[in-house]
Amino acid sequence: MTSISTLYEQMIADGTLRADPAQQAVMPEFDRIRDALMQPVKKGFFRKAPEPPKGLYLWGGVGRGKSMIMDLFVNNLGDIPARRVHFHAFMQEIHTAMHEARKTGVDDAIAPVAKAVSSSVRLLAFDEMQITDITDAMIVGRLFEALFADGVVVITTSNRLPDELYKHGLNRNLFVPFIELIKKKMVVHELVSPTDYRQDRLAGSPVYFTPINAESRADMDAVWQDLTGGDDAPLTLHVKGRQVVIPRFRNGIGRAKFHALCGQPLGAADYLALAEAVKVLMLDDIPSLGRSNFNEAKRFVTLIDALYEAHVRLICSAAASPEMLYLEGEGTFEFERTASRLREMQGEDWGKAQS
Ligand SMILES: Nc1ncnc2c1ncn2[C@@H]1O[C@H](COP(=O)(O)OP(=O)(O)OP(=O)(O)O)[C@@H](O)[C@H]1O
Ligand SMILES: [Mg+2]
Repeated sequence: MTSISTLYEQMIADGTLRADPAQQAVMPEFDRIRDALMQPVKKGFFRKAPEPPKGLYLWGGVGRGKSMIMDLFVNNLGDIPARRVHFHAFMQEIHTAMHEARKTGVDDAIAPVAKAVSSSVRLLAFDEMQITDITDAMIVGRLFEALFADGVVVITTSNRLPDELYKHGLNRNLFVPFIELIKKKMVVHELVSPTDYRQDRLAGSPVYFTPINAESRADMDAVWQDLTGGDDAPLTLHVKGRQVVIPRFRNGIGRAKFHALCGQPLGAADYLALAEAVKVLMLDDIPSLGRSNFNEAKRFVTLIDALYEAHVRLICSAAASPEMLYLEGEGTFEFERTASRLREMQGEDWGKAQS
């Protein structure tokens, strides 16, 4: 089977990717892990299982190609049992499983839950490791200790150094052992590429499609395909006991229909959490706004404010241009700011990278 570095070079040769020395520099790490995992596991009564290879903590600025390279790696592992999952989604599964385990009366819910994970995979690939939640912060140390003890290899992408995780979080001293564990069990590597490829891919191409018709739907689908290039899954955010669901999510890109986000009783806190969770939001089918859908329009204003503040890239299809979206009824004046923000957010330089 082909090594990851060879696959990467092939993709450069066939024009799928641009050659990037910073990306090339991390290939040996992926090759190293893949080679080690490819070794047959000879287990015997007297034979100790071989020491698993160190994992990889790949971090760096947005759009540098971390998720893309990780996907390339995970998709070329043959029959090695591996799982690629968004870190936040994984932690939610863990909390649910621990909740179930506690019902059976176990003292330590982490142990059986970690066992269930480690018995099904040899490698876990997490996209976008970040820890903002105290309930996650307080269990990751013991959870990963158990996974590593069972020989699971972990790779992850992140926008921060391990030392910056859960910075200023409550009870951070209890979290610090997890940072030490990462440094011990994973090679920490920064992808220092100067290029934000996501921004590059969007530069010069339209991000506001109007009106809503078969053509704009096809355009939105093409952008989605280009930016994500893989299977998506819903991402559920928990905000003050409520659930906010982004119906489609992959590689930091969220996609939802207008109705799913603005036709539900969501408020500023929900939109702020959403803006925090995505780097790009693709919003389909923004209708004409006015008296008849006043509540939806009000929520849309709040959503755009949250996205704007967080420098999230917005790609959308809408019934009309920003200035023509909201023409009659109370709120016309407030909407002027939203229209102007929608306009500004179409700018080539707009995006999280500048924040
Ligand atoms: N060398 C390259 N040539 C062409 N396109 C690339 C290259 N590297 C990455 N891309 C593309 O750039 C986009 C962003 O890459 P990716 O999602 O992997 O970035 P990232 O580092 O994970 O960013 P983030 O930190 O925001 O999650 C993707 O569409 C990806 O396919
Ligand atoms: Mg990514």
